[in-house]
Amino acid sequence: MMMRSILISLSQNSSLRKLLEQTRPGRKLSGRFVAGTTLDDAVRVTETLNAEGFSVSLDSLGESVRTAAGARAAAEIYHLLLDRIAGKSLNANVSVKLTGVGLDVSAGLGEQVTGEIVEHAARLGNFVRIDMEGTPYTEVTLKLTEDLHGRFPGAVGTVLQSYLYRTKDDAERLLGQGIRIRLCKGAYKEGPEHAFPSKADVDGSYVTLAERMVASDVYCGMATHDEKMIAAVERFVKERGIARDRFEFQMLYGVRRDLQRELLGRGYGVRVYLPFGTDWFPYFMRRLAERPANVIFILKNLFKS
Ligand code: FDA
Repeated sequence: MMMRSILISLSQNSSLRKLLEQTRPGRKLSGRFVAGTTLDDAVRVTETLNAEGFSVSLDSLGESVRTAAGARAAAEIYHLLLDRIAGKSLNANVSVKLTGVGLDVSAGLGEQVTGEIVEHAARLGNFVRIDMEGTPYTEVTLKLTEDLHGRFPGAVGTVLQSYLYRTKDDAERLLGQGIRIRLCKGAYKEGPEHAFPSKADVDGSYVTLAERMVASDVYCGMATHDEKMIAAVERFVKERGIARDRFEFQMLYGVRRDLQRELLGRGYGVRVYLPFGTDWFPYFMRRLAERPANVIFILKNLFKS
């Protein structure tokens, strides 16, 4: 617990951040959870993952954007990325955070910029996943996804979080329109007015929602590293005779690589969520804080090579 608080406070330390983001050892360190800093890095790691049998969702890491110019610059990376994916025939789509493309500057800007990315993806036959952020953004994210799905059917989907009470209804709402969902537990700090306080309830909710989604005719992604959740899904699809290509598992790059390979080996589709970009430090520190044992692992590897 102490290690976790240390890591979280270090994640907000700007000198450490500068040192690591801008130096070679720092960049080497980040390779455990992040593809690298450039588009070329993202493409190279995607090629390796595709060759191993994984599909990929690429996330261009960025801070919450505060200006229209910042939003346009962030979007430009996604446009370049979509063209690189198509040009190289990679098995990859993209994940976008609305606050990363200008939603906090103005709702209109965030919506317009995201619409242009989805339009581009639709033209290329690709897909955009709109990541889900904290509860102030839940409704706006769902509405925008519905609107864009209406304009570009099948080219956009979003994420639902099993820790929220409202997700049961939101799942029906999206499935009813044929909108693809990524199901995760939820990563933001939410109060008991919005989210189940107990882990057991979050897990229970995850299993119920996962069963509903894999039994539906909409192709959904089960995003989790939790073996209990995965076992419950596997048991359910076997019982119901649901084909393995009706859904996929999703995990973060570098997290439980053993489990990722096992699932591929058992014939499931596995998509790796692969972040890249110069702003990798806060993302990296959050992954370490989730499991402080990773710190030891990383230090060992750093000194080995
Ligand atoms: P849980 O946190 O219960 O962990 C289960 C087990 O997983 C742990 O015991 C450990 O073994 C392993 N594990 C977890 N993290 C690890 C780490 N860093 N290193 C090593 N082992 C680790 N959230 C959100 O709010 N909006 C979103 O859009 C997304 N998108 C998203 C995409 C994908 C592909 C994934 C996998 C996750 C997300 N999330 C997310 C994050 C999600 O909500 C959740 O916070 C994390 O996935 C952790 O929850 P688990 O389901 O893995 O279980």
